[in-house]
Amino acid sequence: MTQTAQTHPKLYESQKLARWYFLVAITLFGAQLIFGLIAAYQQINPDFLFELAPFMTNRTLHVNAMVIWLLVGMMGGVYWFLPRETGREVVGITAAKIIWWVIVAGVTVVILVYLFVQIGPAEMTTIWFIMEGREYIEAPRWADIAIVLWVAIFLFNVIATVLASRRITGILAVLIFDLVALGALYTAGMHFTVNITMDQFLWWWVIHLWVEATWEVLVGVLMAWALMYLLGSSRKLLETWLFIEVALVFGTGIIGLGHHYFWIGTPEYWLGLGGFFSALEPLPLVAMVVHAVYDAGGHRLGSVNKPAMFWVIAQAFGNFIGAGVWGFMQTLPQINMYSHGTQLAAAHGHLAFFGAYVSTVMVLVYIAAQNLRKTIRIPLDSKLWSWAAGMLILGIIGIGGAFTLSGFTQTLIERAEGGSTWAAYIAAYTHPWYANTLGWRYFFGWVMMLGFVLLVWDLVTIGRRAPASQTVAQPATVSPGGSHD
Ligand code: HEM
Ligand code: HEM
Ligand SMILES: [Fe+2]
Repeated sequence: MTQTAQTHPKLYESQKLARWYFLVAITLFGAQLIFGLIAAYQQINPDFLFELAPFMTNRTLHVNAMVIWLLVGMMGGVYWFLPRETGREVVGITAAKIIWWVIVAGVTVVILVYLFVQIGPAEMTTIWFIMEGREYIEAPRWADIAIVLWVAIFLFNVIATVLASRRITGILAVLIFDLVALGALYTAGMHFTVNITMDQFLWWWVIHLWVEATWEVLVGVLMAWALMYLLGSSRKLLETWLFIEVALVFGTGIIGLGHHYFWIGTPEYWLGLGGFFSALEPLPLVAMVVHAVYDAGGHRLGSVNKPAMFWVIAQAFGNFIGAGVWGFMQTLPQINMYSHGTQLAAAHGHLAFFGAYVSTVMVLVYIAAQNLRKTIRIPLDSKLWSWAAGMLILGIIGIGGAFTLSGFTQTLIERAEGGSTWAAYIAAYTHPWYANTLGWRYFFGWVMMLGFVLLVWDLVTIGRRAPASQTVAQPATVSPGGSHD
């Protein structure tokens, strides 16, 4: 039995900051699960925490924690890889550190206000200091401004570092373009108007265009870096794939936005536009699966980091199934007319966010974990990571499955058969196909929680325990600044 251990390369300040990003991301992941479990339990027993922490507060915390931790995790990935890509320290790292602690303090205050103040009068002060009330981005306006500032400094870090290194790669060009869009779109969710159609119209610019366009492209960038690190894949090949994927993501996702404009009071042409373009949205996701399998297969899955490699493959399939298949299922207006707003949407939301983004952050966190020990084990491996991954994935499949069944029951019994009457609503909610799923999603929530505990345990101890037992055919460079082309 042979083993390889290389000495630890010195970390850049930017990579040290990335560690704090990952720590906070994982902590908020835990918070997301706790609030999800409470919300799921309240659907079974509505008396639980009655008048103390209502369902809507827990639900808000559940989805807000998710948006923030996934964004933090992906930004951490950029801070991790940027000095490797440019071969130098990130420019403006002090500003990055300061705004980071402002954000951490801000998130803590927002969580406390959500929990203890909860709601306010219908006045502007509520929007500024308590919450804005737009699902997923409820944060009060002062926090919105802090978030925009944060993304602006992040963008400055990236652009200034690229300029200082005097070399731009295809991956960096895509990253800069994407970050400008990501930051600018967030401001669309800060617009207040009493016209609900207008409000929803702009709010979707953030939600849909983030998760189905700018976040997907960010994932493309991060995965390209991850594959170079994990497999030593060729830059030329990766950049070619990236360009194809970006073109497909933007080509289908931008007008695909129309699948949220079917029933909110927008003109009728959105039925055709939204239906057609969003039906094409799974295409880039197929390209991503082919890409990941092609790259991993070319190296016979041999990698410097087994857990990260596992999550790369899980991401490709999870993204395709959760976003592509579960999204496609309800995207044609003829179907969406019946399924809109049922728990099929929640099934898709869970499977897509987990498949596309939780998996991505897992890849990044395991890559960072490998570089935090004194020696770098090649390959990084443990039994625990596979148990953690298995439980997390089993948990999300169970939760997604339970929501699918209840959503199907609503679509069929409440909408299609009963014609959305009050009696039909009651018939669906009391039907065993619906009622039983409440227990199932709670049960699988605990499975997921167990997976989370194992994940934390693994991250804290991996690389410290028994060294890995074999070398890899393709050892990747682990020195900072190493480029693989
Ligand atoms: C990673 C990518 C994606 C994520 C994270 C995601 C997430 C979500 C979430 C959370 C919702 C519920 C929004 C709400 O609260 O109202 C939603 C709705 C929806 N998504 Fe996605 N989605 C993704 C990709 C896709 C794709 C590729 C398609 C189509 C092929 C799609 C089709 C839809 C449709 C039609 C709805 C509206 C469902 C309804 O009418 O109730 N999504 N998505
Ligand atoms: C312990 C595990 C979890 C439990 C028990 C849980 C439970 C729930 C519950 C009860 C809701 C409210 C559904 C409703 O409004 O009727 C919800 C919403 C949501 N959860 Fe989770 N969840 C868990 C984990 C996750 C994870 C890991 C993600 C994604 C990474 C996620 C993403 C979402 C999203 C996007 C929504 C809003 C869905 C929509 O409006 O369509 N949840 N969850
Ligand atoms: Fe969408």
